[in-house]
Amino acid sequence: MAHGHKSDEKVVFVGDSRVRKRTVPVSKVPPDYSSYPGKSEAFIPNFLLKEWMVGVVVLVGFLVLTISEPAPLGYPADPTNAGFIPMPDWYFLFLYQFLKLQYVSKDYVVLGTVGVPGIAFGALLLAPFLDTGKERRFYKRPITSILMLLSLISVFYLTKQSWDHYQHELQLTNTVPEHILREEKAREAAAKGQEPGEAAAEAANIPLVDKDDPAVELTKKAQCVACHGTDLKGNESAGIPSFHGIGDEFKKEQLVDIVTNGAGGGKMPAFKDKLTAEEIDQLTTWLAKQKKAE
Ligand code: HEC
Repeated sequence: MAHGHKSDEKVVFVGDSRVRKRTVPVSKVPPDYSSYPGKSEAFIPNFLLKEWMVGVVVLVGFLVLTISEPAPLGYPADPTNAGFIPMPDWYFLFLYQFLKLQYVSKDYVVLGTVGVPGIAFGALLLAPFLDTGKERRFYKRPITSILMLLSLISVFYLTKQSWDHYQHELQLTNTVPEHILREEKAREAAAKGQEPGEAAAEAANIPLVDKDDPAVELTKKAQCVACHGTDLKGNESAGIPSFHGIGDEFKKEQLVDIVTNGAGGGKMPAFKDKLTAEEIDQLTTWLAKQKKAE
């Protein structure tokens, strides 16, 4: 179809039986952006370039933020910490709580882990095919809106319930979560004008008094070492005190009571059935001697 100088050239359209004739009149075809000068623009490259610039700024901002403020790491895992109550991140609390319900746990756990979430996400995938109405206003789409409201309400409810359960459990077991424990310790240390962690380091550096006392054998025999450590330095992150310098904190009578009857709501077990009175006496006499050298 060359439009040369010869204006008398005949233009021939070649029909193709495979291409159906348009049934929409040209006047009905929606106009493209060029019909709205000043109000719209070409997608490529104008619009895309703008979007891309914004994307780059956000990305660089993110990079700067992550480099200047490294993400905090959690505490090292401690398998001996019996007081630890594992909890998922807040946005999974509702699922966590959901799995405690009677008919989605134990024998029905497959229903809870695969069944119900499968139906929920399957429904989301199918939504564009099921909800094909042109209507966009939520109050004109009762089924979709009600389903969405119901799921929102249940997510909020389950999250709240999960958190309440957790607080209740903490109270029942007399547990202080690790991060709060550490915060308290750090605050105490700061009040004493110490750097965080200094108190613990100090405690660990106190030498044992009378290292060859027969009571040391008793700490092994009675399995104190299983929790308080073979070096008897305790485990700070699990809230288990060190024996080094423990005589500064407790008197002999207090120590006898702790070892006989336990402490910390049962986290420190009672030894009245496992050790004889003489053994407890011997052990606590030695513990009471564990003072910091002046
Ligand atoms: C099952 C682990 C475990 C064993 C075994 C154990 N302890 Fe403890 N002990 C703990 C914990 C946990 C605490 C902290 C309790 C608390 O939170 O007050 C503790 C605390 C203590 C305290 C200080 C009490 C206080 O209130 O701070 C003493 C003293 C003590 N233990 C002595 C012993 C002796 C002696 C033995 C061995 C005869 C022993 N423990 C065996 C876990 C244990």
